[in-house]
Amino acid sequence: MGITNPFKDQSLSLTKRLLPWTLYALLPIALLRFYFYPVPDTELPHSTPITITSYSSSASSPPFSENKKAYDPPCDYFDGKWIRDMRGPLYNGTTCGTIKEGQNCITHGRPDSGYLYWRWKPSQCRLPRFEPHTFLQLVNNKHVAFVGDSMARNQLESLLCLLSTASTPNLVYRNGEDNKFRKWHFPSHNVSVSVYWSPFLVQGVEKSNSGPNHNKLYLDHIDERWGRDMDQMDLIVLSIGHWFLHPAVYYENDSVLGCHYCPGLNHTEIGFYDVLRKALRTTLSSIIDRRGGKGNGIDVIVTTFSPAHFEGEWDKAGACPKTKPYRNGEKQLEGMDADMRKIEIEEVEDAKTKANELGGFRLEALDVTRLTLLRPDGHPGPYMYPFPFANGHKERVQNDCVHWCLPGPIDTWNEIFLELMKKWREHPRTEE
Ligand SMILES: *[C@@H]1O[C@H](CO)[C@@H](O)[C@H](O)[C@H]1NC(C)=O
Ligand SMILES: *[C@@H]1O[C@H](CO)[C@@H](O)[C@H](O)[C@H]1NC(C)=O
Ligand SMILES: *[C@@H]1O[C@H](CO)[C@@H](O)[C@H](O)[C@H]1NC(C)=O
Ligand SMILES: *[C@@H]1O[C@H](CO)[C@@H](O)[C@H](O)[C@H]1NC(C)=O
Repeated sequence: MGITNPFKDQSLSLTKRLLPWTLYALLPIALLRFYFYPVPDTELPHSTPITITSYSSSASSPPFSENKKAYDPPCDYFDGKWIRDMRGPLYNGTTCGTIKEGQNCITHGRPDSGYLYWRWKPSQCRLPRFEPHTFLQLVNNKHVAFVGDSMARNQLESLLCLLSTASTPNLVYRNGEDNKFRKWHFPSHNVSVSVYWSPFLVQGVEKSNSGPNHNKLYLDHIDERWGRDMDQMDLIVLSIGHWFLHPAVYYENDSVLGCHYCPGLNHTEIGFYDVLRKALRTTLSSIIDRRGGKGNGIDVIVTTFSPAHFEGEWDKAGACPKTKPYRNGEKQLEGMDADMRKIEIEEVEDAKTKANELGGFRLEALDVTRLTLLRPDGHPGPYMYPFPFANGHKERVQNDCVHWCLPGPIDTWNEIFLELMKKWREHPRTEE
């Protein structure tokens, strides 16, 4: 088939599978080819925890002797397990009013609630419960922008609900079909939180019923729908991935670079891995170019790929039927999930090196892939629609096994996000 596979040098056997895939609002449903590598997770470097440089006592003195704050051993928040926690979530389906319909599992009649009583326990430390006041204080007078696909939106809506337990936001801007561009303001702390729909981060034309049946991506330009507001952002959370699996034609420097699943078009199949890498590279370079200098610095979080958990057909009962997390060791990070994450981590590390030379720019991966992989129980499944079984058990029912119920495991992403920000506070940018 002439597939140029960026990982072919690993000489892995390539199994092609046809799987149904559901995406944003579950409207653009397409049959997509998956590249599936049946190999165990290769050990990857986790995003390097922020190194502490201020501790300068002689090597013989115990690290905790005088000032505990002076030496906090870095914790890898992304290595751990899910443990039972009877306290339950900070909010419920009616606390915040901003939960997207399809993710409000409680009010849609999801009968089990066990999935709400788990807490992520990093191996080396404790992950504190989300503290909305602390978060708002840390971003006092700032604008936090979520940019990406429906996962960015899912994480943003979790954050809004968590923050709403402490302070009420006002919706100050709304635009685009299905509220794709929105901004809230928390008057208590003069904090703005916004969401920008940009499923590729780079310029793109999404496939539509009226237009072409594939996406078009322009890999050398960022999407100015968010890019033009970059000078008003203080913290950007980038979250992409699933839209790269769609059929697409890729352009670079005004010429066709290749395509992914475009039968009938005379373009070279190049898969989507290299394309994801290029899109991230263009995005991070543009942020560094525009905001990397000292004095006007910006912080960037890249949320890594969020695995889906389809076990059966998306429109049949039991597509993602689990009601408990996987136990430790039961599920390995592998295949496409691992490859997408690896690319994101590598590009973040690469950009970090460049950013460190400039100062004024902090960048961290929010490496949620593995902890999220372990939560097959956290998706809406059939409860993307209200009371799907009200008229008895149905054979055909649509399932969302991609997004996350709110409240649900995605709240943990924001707990870790807050911990990353606390670390930043302890180790300010060089210009400050
Ligand atoms: C949801 O939380 C609100 C407070 O945020 C509370 O008033 C309400 O009773 C809760 N609803 C349920 C069903 O627990
Ligand atoms: C409120 O925050 C914005 C940034 O989001 C800042 O430009 C503005 O100066 C702040 N206002 C006050 C009164 O501090
Ligand atoms: C596009 O242009 C950039 C910079 O001019 C260059 O580095 C890159 O190789 C070009 N890509 C292609 C596919 O021609
Ligand atoms: C397809 O592309 C190749 C190489 O660019 C060209 O030689 C060939 O004529 C094209 N075929 C069609 C049907 O356009």
